[in-house]
Order: sequence, then C-alpha cells, then structure tokens
Amino acid sequence: MGSAFVIEGLGGEKKLTGSIPVYGSKNAVLPLMAAAVLVEGETKLSNVPGIADIRSMITILEGLGAYVTYTGDSVSLRTQDLTQTVLDRAAAKSLRASVLLTGPVLARNKSVTFPHPGGDLIGERPVDVFLNAFVKLGATVIENADSYTVSAPNGLSGGEYFFHVVSVTGTESVLIAATAATGPVVLKNCAMEPEVVATADFLISCGAKIEGAGTPTMLITPAPLHAPDAPTKIIPDRIEAASFLTLGALLGRDITVTGAERAHLDAVIDALEIMGVTVTVDSAGMHVRAPEKLLGARLRTHEYPGYPTDAQSPQVVLLTQASGESVVIESIFDGRLAYTKELVRMGAHIELVSPHRAVIRGPTPLSAATIDTPDIRAGLAYMLAAAIAQGTSTINNAHIIDRGYAHIDARLAALGLSIKRVES
Ligand code: EPU
Repeated sequence: MGSAFVIEGLGGEKKLTGSIPVYGSKNAVLPLMAAAVLVEGETKLSNVPGIADIRSMITILEGLGAYVTYTGDSVSLRTQDLTQTVLDRAAAKSLRASVLLTGPVLARNKSVTFPHPGGDLIGERPVDVFLNAFVKLGATVIENADSYTVSAPNGLSGGEYFFHVVSVTGTESVLIAATAATGPVVLKNCAMEPEVVATADFLISCGAKIEGAGTPTMLITPAPLHAPDAPTKIIPDRIEAASFLTLGALLGRDITVTGAERAHLDAVIDALEIMGVTVTVDSAGMHVRAPEKLLGARLRTHEYPGYPTDAQSPQVVLLTQASGESVVIESIFDGRLAYTKELVRMGAHIELVSPHRAVIRGPTPLSAATIDTPDIRAGLAYMLAAAIAQGTSTINNAHIIDRGYAHIDARLAALGLSIKRVES
C-alpha cells in the first residue's frame, strides 16, 4: 500500500557529488494561498513546489468557492465567488496548515467553521492562539464536538493581541485577517520566520499597510487588497536547504546546494560550523563536503532566527556520526524526538532523557532497516540515515515525505545515491 523508497547505503563512504536545487517553500506558499481569500483579482504565484500539501489546500479552497489552477510551478487563484464558510472536514483534518484559512475566511465571510486539527505525530498542535486572537478582535467562538464555529457578524474589529506562544501559522492567519479589520490591529509576540515576512511582503504588494514584519510587533492598518499584475515568486525552502547542507556534511565529496537564500540559514550554518563543517557561498550556490571528523555539539531548536525544528531530525543523523556526546533540545514540539527510536534500531546511541531532550554518543556506524516514517521531516532524516548505512533500507510511507520534498528521489539520485521508488 503506497510507495516506499529503497536506498542502497554507502556504508560510510563520502562520495556524493554534484548540485541539488532547492525548490519554493511549502510553508511560504500555503499562507499566500490563504491570503488570496481576501485579495481582489487574480493572485498569481510562481516557484510553487509540486507537493501534495498544495493540492490539499486547493481542495479546501475550491470547496469554499475559489477557482484555482495549478500548472507546472504556477498557481493562480480567484476568490470573487468564495462564499462558503465551512472548511472541507476531511481535507482540513489531513492538513494542519488548513488553519491558515480560518482568519481570512472569517474576515471575508464573517464566519468560519473548521475541525479540530487531526492528532499529529510530532506532538500536540492546539488552536487556542487562533481562537483567542479572533475573540480579542470581536468574534465569538462556538465549540462543537470536534469543530469550531467562529463568527463576527460585523467584521473583525481593531485591537491589540499578544500571542501567548509564538506561532507561525497563527501569526500568518491573524495577520492576513487583520488587513480586513474595521480598525488598526497591533499584534505582539509574533513569529519572525521568513515565511511570515514573505506573507507580509505579499500582502503589502497587494496594498496592505503593515509595519514591523520580521519583528515581534506588527501594526496592521486595514486596506483593500488587489492582486499585483506580476506573479509573486515563492521564497526558497530554507528547510530543504538545511536538509541538503546536512546531507552534504554527511556524505558529500563536493555538493553544491543551489537556489537557497543564505540570509535565512544563519542558525543552520552556525550549527554545521560548530561541528567542523565548512560551508562556502558563491554565485553558484552553497558548497559543502563531509569533513574528516565531525565534532559533537549542543543543538536547541528555537523560533526563528534560532535553529528550525523542521531541520532538527536530519541534523540528529549528522550528530550520530560526530565524536563524543551531543545534546539536542527540541523546544517547539513535544513529540518531535520520538522518531529517534528507529535510528537506535539502526545502531545509533541516542538516549531520550525526556520528550524534549536527546543525548547522542557517537560516532556509530548505522545498519540498514525497514522503517515507517511518522512525518515529513523524520522521513527525510531516515533517508539520510539509510544513505550512510551499510546495506539496503526501505523507507515506507514515501507519500508523507513527498508532502514536503518534491521529486526527492530524483534529486538525490542525481548526486549519485542509489535510490528507487517502489510500490509497497
Ligand atoms: N501552539 C499552541 N497553540 C496554538 C498554536 C500553536 O500552543 O494555537 C504551539 C504548538 O503546539 C507548538 C508551538 O506553538 O508547540 C509552535 O507551533 P506553530 O503554531 O508555530 O506551528 P505551526 O504554525 O502549526 C509551522 C510549520 C511547521 C513548523 C512550525 C514551527 C507551516 C504550515 N507549518 O507550524 O512545519 O514545524 O511552524 O516552526 O508553516 C513542516 O513543514 O514539516 C512543519 C511541521
């Protein structure tokens, strides 16, 4: 059922060479698709990655009444007839990022009904910051058995809201909604991720008045939004870039990561340098190779500009190959170290001291395994582990990895890795 990746491990040999391109960012395109709900005219997006999450988002938008086309790497959206207020239940449950739509749909249609997001394998993912923000801006919330209906018959009011936890999609959804409020909105303790800044930049290109994007405090003065004539190019995926740099540090004779944005990768490059990895940047891209010896390190995930939680799992695979003791603290999600048990099965020495803290002792050779992947990022980590291991590994649930990384098998094969996609 479904497909799997079969990977012939290199048994520790460091021989991958060539270039690997970084595609457009999944987590930047999804909020722009949500923002289109409030944009008049045709929203055109380019450099859109070919991944299943985009299709799921389209299904939900179409269910609400949007017209969407998705050809090659371009998506265009027209929302003039978007009158529905109920998010398609199955699609919304399968895609956590569907919560991005709650703010825009509420602001546009004065009401939104959405299911509680499905149990996620990376930990608890509540929606309280969304609901509290909407209430603060004058909405009322009715909680049903497994869904929420939020209403603001007179539209969202202006006001001030403090995010009690820093939330990326929370910040994005409320930011988008605030552009259509009846008065100025101040948002405090906002997420500062590049995807938030890209969302604000897009809204500004549509006529929004937003100050402070990329800082903890944003001021939004409502204004009507019109689509710009030119397509908006999605920013490069910094998590892909981080994962590929880690791959280069593990297995590269000489790897060039192309199309990445260096400015988004400070924490990632710093973490690699601490381990003894050199990353050089020139006009061709970011060059990385596996060093003679990797040094153990302490890694703590953090909101941007700290180390991204989405890049933690590939980096843990790298740490299994480093000398001495490393400590990894996962500060964002409480279930996001659980995947390490499969790395232990492959031979890694990893002790989960708590759900948030792993102690790794290395270096340890890894042996091949058959593994089911729980989420996108753990899946990529298992692919890296399989690539360094001795023997042939099978990573099941390829479709989960496909949600975050388009054509990942072809991109890795181009570097010299023996990888096949098979029906399992
Ligand atoms: N949180 C709450 N209440 C809320 C919302 C979040 O307590 O209402 C908590 C979460 O439980 C978590 C923390 O806040 O502990 C941060 O979660 P956040 O809301 O920032 O996560 P998200 O917006 O749901 C986005 C990315 C994730 C990425 C996180 C953290 C998108 C579509 N998703 O999720 O990406 O891990 O930010 O950077 O942007 C992935 O791409 O694989 C992925 C999971």
